[in-house]
Amino acid sequence: MKLATVLLAVASLAIAPQAVKAQFSTRLGGVNTAGYDFSVDTNGDFSGTGTTPPASQYTHFSGEGANLYRIPFAWQLMTPTLGGTINSSFFSEYDTTVQAALDSSSGAYVIVDLHNYARWNGDIIGQGGPTNAEYASIWTQLAQNYGSDERVIFGLMNEPHDLNVTEWVASLQYVVNAVREAGSTNYLLLPGSSYSSAETFPTEAGPYLVGVTDPLGGTGKLLFDVHKYLDSDNSGTHATCVTNNVDVLETLVSFLQDNGDRQAILSETGGGETTSCYTDVAQELSYVKSAYPTLVGFSIWAAGAFDTSYVLTVTPWSNGTDQTLWTEAVKPYLP
Ligand SMILES: *[C@@H]1O[C@H](CO)[C@@H](O)[C@H](O)[C@H]1NC(C)=O
Ligand SMILES: *[C@@H]1O[C@H](CO)[C@@H](O)[C@H](O)[C@H]1NC(C)=O
Ligand SMILES: *[C@@H]1O[C@H](CO)[C@@H](O)[C@H](O)[C@H]1NC(C)=O
Repeated sequence: MKLATVLLAVASLAIAPQAVKAQFSTRLGGVNTAGYDFSVDTNGDFSGTGTTPPASQYTHFSGEGANLYRIPFAWQLMTPTLGGTINSSFFSEYDTTVQAALDSSSGAYVIVDLHNYARWNGDIIGQGGPTNAEYASIWTQLAQNYGSDERVIFGLMNEPHDLNVTEWVASLQYVVNAVREAGSTNYLLLPGSSYSSAETFPTEAGPYLVGVTDPLGGTGKLLFDVHKYLDSDNSGTHATCVTNNVDVLETLVSFLQDNGDRQAILSETGGGETTSCYTDVAQELSYVKSAYPTLVGFSIWAAGAFDTSYVLTVTPWSNGTDQTLWTEAVKPYLP
């Protein structure tokens, strides 16, 4: 090391407490690969058996520049008994998928997504249903498996809704403490309310979520998880789009910047195979790209085990050709 470099290093150390944050410093873009979550109801019921997303999709999408794969699963598949041990047979199947995604490129990240709407069989976590300890149990076990892999991001819960936000945020704090106690240093995704709504985040759950602390220190490893669709009722069930969401995301970005310069990931968004969505999704993802690093990136809903007839499909055709939405509106905004 040359003297000039040493001096420079000392100088930057001196400003380190203010300038250095453990922020997520890679722009992310990719896709949800659904399947292990099939038949999870919004009330947390589950009646399925799980469908394995095709592993070939990871190399396909990584070859086009994708570096984020969100892999949802039903809580009941991972731990058949509430608060019980992970089913090692199921975990082995799930982990094979996770490793296929991670192996698809050296820079690929995976969001392990507990897709249960803050519920188990109709009952809300910490609010009459599973105890916070039962909720933490699955994550401490997953931390034992993935706790040393920085490319695995823990999506602590998919789309909480219709619950007491104060108590929900307390449940999240309990889980954050538990996974750190278990030795995990992974980035954690904290979801708010109203199905992880990006729109209600600044006024509903956001003001509480910014208060969640990380035993690791700082808040740079606590990212917020937001969803937003572009159809008439923000449900992601219609083929046509009516908004590009830029106003909603601008409001979110202002809130995050004003509250400690925090970061969020748009982990679900999507549209149908229609010209309105080709335009609106492209404008949305262009904005997401421009708002990095406040918005770390996005994963579009969805490929995986969905077939090409699903209304929001980005599953490639069997001949390997991509959906037009992917080509027109997603691919140009990958990292
Ligand atoms: C554990 O997972 C395997 C493989 O998915 C499945 O066949 C089995 O039924 C599961 N066990 C329980 C108790 O759910
Ligand atoms: C939510 O829970 C908090 C803490 O238990 C309680 O003080 C508050 O009254 C609850 N809010 C509603 C709307 O029930
Ligand atoms: C692949 O299949 C799709 C759907 O049938 C079709 O639209 C497309 O033209 C095909 N692409 C090639 C290169 O054959």
